[in-house]
Amino acid sequence: MSAGNEAEERIVPMRLQRFLARAGVASRRGSENLMTAGRVTVNGVVVTELGSKVDPLVDEVAVDGKVVRLSDGHVYLMLNKPRGYLTTMTDPYGRACVASIVPADSYPGLFPVGRLDTDTTGLLLFTTNGDLAHHLLHPSTHVWKHYVALVRGVPTAAQLERLRKGVPLDDGMSAPAEVRLLSPDEEAAVPVIPEGMPYGHAVVGLSIHEGKKHQVKRMLAAVGHEVVRLHRDEFGPLVLSGVQPGCWRLLSDDERRALESA
Ligand code: URA
Repeated sequence: MSAGNEAEERIVPMRLQRFLARAGVASRRGSENLMTAGRVTVNGVVVTELGSKVDPLVDEVAVDGKVVRLSDGHVYLMLNKPRGYLTTMTDPYGRACVASIVPADSYPGLFPVGRLDTDTTGLLLFTTNGDLAHHLLHPSTHVWKHYVALVRGVPTAAQLERLRKGVPLDDGMSAPAEVRLLSPDEEAAVPVIPEGMPYGHAVVGLSIHEGKKHQVKRMLAAVGHEVVRLHRDEFGPLVLSGVQPGCWRLLSDDERRALESA
């Protein structure tokens, strides 16, 4: 490569809010808010001017005193998916889909890693990193996912044991799973217990590493228990936290690193 090309490939000075968004600090708009709030410094000097530029190779940018560096250029965020939204970025029939909740315009190429049913709530990972998504979804990667299911009836110890060992589904046996009945305290993880079922229900926690369609519902149906509400609170090393239903947040550096080594 000639010296001229090297010079062209060097990251050129960019707008500060773009730098912050690319570093995964916040969306472009959120980064502007951080700047106008006086929380961003460049080489130790507070910068509130929205047109300001930085050279990522030379300047030291900090938010609230913490130095920020450009990441691999990809974005990673978790959505706390509400009920009633399709896991898709477009829908030809105009139905509500998760694309309307996540900042798809700020981060072109953002897509969900795997899917949750329309009536399932909870942790849905989004990224622009196709390679990582492919790795996480590959069956050989065995990413464990934890679900909390409100079911009709109370599963017996024998039924829970069958779920642990694997149950027949119409596309083969389910792989061994971790399954337990949750205590009333933990039931808070299921957002709403519908009216009309105050008795004869149970809350089951399941960890599975497969990702077959409607897998949890089909596993529980296979032992005779209909799922009434389903919520995912863990995806691999990620735990749903710090994000209200219907909201999203960018992953921290630690969460991103944990995902990459999953
Ligand atoms: N299993 C299901 O049945 N539904 C989901 O949305 C996720 C896992």
